[in-house]
Amino acid sequence: MFSSAPMPTSRTRIDIPDPGEVVRTVVDGQPVAVWNVAGEIHAIGDICPHRGFVLSEGNVYLTREGCASVVCPGHHWRFDLVSGEAAFRPECVRVYGVEIDGDGLWISALPGSSPGSRAEGAG
Ligand code: FES
Repeated sequence: MFSSAPMPTSRTRIDIPDPGEVVRTVVDGQPVAVWNVAGEIHAIGDICPHRGFVLSEGNVYLTREGCASVVCPGHHWRFDLVSGEAAFRPECVRVYGVEIDGDGLWISALPGSSPGSRAEGAG
């Protein structure tokens, strides 16, 4: 039986972070930061594409529109926790799938989500 739905390439199970907490893990050999922001779980690559600072050491906040972002502690680029996109820049970080399973989470590397630049593959 064949399915057209994309399948995760790898996944890791972690405990659900408490609200306001970030948990670091590894998925498919890559560092991943998993935040609980006001009850919403977000998972993105933990390494800033600019100069490699650790994003999970940055501050997270909600915009007026209710979007969760993290500010890189290196040079203050801001990354959307849903899209992985940097504000006002073409760079982005990988977004990971999150599946709640009892008291835990499965964090998945999704096909088609990769770090780099939004300009890649455009046009
Ligand atoms: S290392 Fe993240 S903004 Fe420079």
